[in-house]
Amino acid sequence: MRKEPAYENEIARILQTKELKRLRGKDFLRTEDVDMHQSFMLFHLAERLKEMHTKKIRLPKLLDQKTVCLFFEKPSTRTRVSFDAGIHLLHGHSFFIDKTTTQMGRGEDMKDTALTLSQYTDAVMGRVFQHKELEVMAKHAPIPVINGLTDEDHPCQILSDLFTIREHFGHLKGLTLMYVGVSDNVTDSLLVGCAMVGVNMYVASPKQFPVSSKYLRIAHSFAKKTGSEIKVFHEMPDANTLKNVNIVYTDEWESMHMHLDKKKLQPILGKFQVNEKLLSKCASNARMMHCLPALKGEEVSHDVMYGKRSLVWPQAHNRMWVQMALLSSILQ
Ligand code: CP
Ligand code: NVA
Repeated sequence: MRKEPAYENEIARILQTKELKRLRGKDFLRTEDVDMHQSFMLFHLAERLKEMHTKKIRLPKLLDQKTVCLFFEKPSTRTRVSFDAGIHLLHGHSFFIDKTTTQMGRGEDMKDTALTLSQYTDAVMGRVFQHKELEVMAKHAPIPVINGLTDEDHPCQILSDLFTIREHFGHLKGLTLMYVGVSDNVTDSLLVGCAMVGVNMYVASPKQFPVSSKYLRIAHSFAKKTGSEIKVFHEMPDANTLKNVNIVYTDEWESMHMHLDKKKLQPILGKFQVNEKLLSKCASNARMMHCLPALKGEEVSHDVMYGKRSLVWPQAHNRMWVQMALLSSILQ
């Protein structure tokens, strides 16, 4: 790894912009906790960090002497590993704890847990079942709290997905993303994130899983400013609509906070599978995204998941760079 002062100076300059200075010490609980300008500046920083690493240029020690607690109530592969690896690359320290093996498993409450974690660490990334529990953590922890997925929001995922879309297509405004499957937390976060940056957002979800009116309202208020077009369908849209779709996005039918009778729902959910037939009706440059984990044969076909239109691996990879940019801004 070689040193490149020009890159280091550019990174220091990006961190000093008004957009990123405003993130210092802040929580990141909701997708809309960063605005469009802050998102674009985070993408700029993430892009530079990724480029440095690819060119084997030594990364600046942006998280030197910083400790981040990774707190989990539910399983994770990507969120846990991408935070851990990214913090390591910036010379910080992170450690994992889960609810069951801490005193929370014996009844210690979130308030005292948040106060305790704040005695030793500089930030907490929390994955919890109920969003309001993360709000309790953020209320009582004097240190920043970052949402690593709740039943309502997955903002780190959506921020890095927008980065991946921009990296692939070269721009965001005017593209159309269609979420296909069971509308849930990832759908709601995508609605807000896409509307915020001017990506048109369609949702095709069975009527049994309607889009949350609360998130639709937030998305519409952003769309008024950015011109993003929002449409909701309860069956697969017609060919005329599909031909505008640049990104087809899906997620597991059954989220970790849900209890679905998938066998009984199969005839309904099966109509919302992302497969080659669906993609062939979309724009000629259409790509498929999935936050993962995927259950191949359910929400996505095996062929599409590993086919040439799939962006799932760069999508998973980019979680790390965007989160590194976010943490460097919050903890600077
Ligand atoms: N997409 C995502 O958050 O993956 P994990 O559940 O593996 O962290
Ligand atoms: N909607 C899924 C996302 C997993 C990353 C869940 O909440 O379980």
